[in-house]
Amino acid sequence: MQVSRKRRDHLLAHVRHVHAAGGDQPGAGAEDVLGTPHDIPSRSDCRRCHDRLPGQVLGFQAILLDHDGPGLTLQDLIDQDLLTDPPSSAGNDYFPVPGDATAQAALGYLHTNCGNCHNPMSDVVNTVPVDWRLRVGTLATVEATPAFTTAVGVAPTLGNINATSILEPQDPDQSAAYLRMNTQQAATQMPPEGREEIDADGVAILAAWINAL
Ligand code: HEC
Ligand code: HEC
Repeated sequence: MQVSRKRRDHLLAHVRHVHAAGGDQPGAGAEDVLGTPHDIPSRSDCRRCHDRLPGQVLGFQAILLDHDGPGLTLQDLIDQDLLTDPPSSAGNDYFPVPGDATAQAALGYLHTNCGNCHNPMSDVVNTVPVDWRLRVGTLATVEATPAFTTAVGVAPTLGNINATSILEPQDPDQSAAYLRMNTQQAATQMPPEGREEIDADGVAILAAWINAL
């Protein structure tokens, strides 16, 4: 399989999966590729995740690159003088996610896996206003993050999940976000595209934060 994605004046995303017996179907995606449980999403499913932020590239962003693990970091970009408007910071941590380790894990998970669709620049906000995306200006406290202000103690907009809040403090089973992550029902599962299995680690991260709220 080859995956490439490029941005010039518009985005080009390309996935090519060569079937053993030929018969490539561009854009259709593929199930259980090469005998693995993994699928390649269809072109329209790619766009349901990638077109809901104006930049369309989802992983290359200040908050996610601000780490000290392996791979490219925000510090590398600053050191190589590649940023027109580099951030400044006394230490090495430019955009720390607020809260203790439990809150940080949940806020980071929701930002990365959910915030690309659930943010004010996405059409999804017209249906449900919950906003899971961190921005550099919303990191002062846990209570200032959109994930907190638009979900904790906030009644769900949609009635097809039986929950009192999107995040109900200390009660995952009354939290719509937890219930939607912890189901395989196509009509209600989150994310709606690109997943067949429940992410047990993600569900545990969210439950731990809900129980600590
Ligand atoms: C369920 C949502 C979802 C779907 C469907 C999806 N992606 Fe992504 N993709 C993401 C997220 C989120 C990232 C960033 C992950 C990270 O940085 O850890 C990403 C990263 C990428 C990247 C690396 C560049 C970037 O944007 O960070 C490429 C290339 C990419 N996806 C291409 C595709 C293609 C092609 C398809 C369809 C075959 C597809 N994606 C389907 C959510 C999705
Ligand atoms: C591909 C885009 C996409 C991604 C990624 C996504 N969602 Fe959603 N989400 C939607 C859409 C669209 C709806 C509205 C569903 C409907 O109309 O039935 C929705 C609805 C919801 C709702 C209902 C809110 C309410 O007020 O009733 C919750 C809660 C939710 N999503 C949580 C999540 C969580 C948690 C994640 C990450 C694990 C996530 N979503 C990832 C598109 C997405």
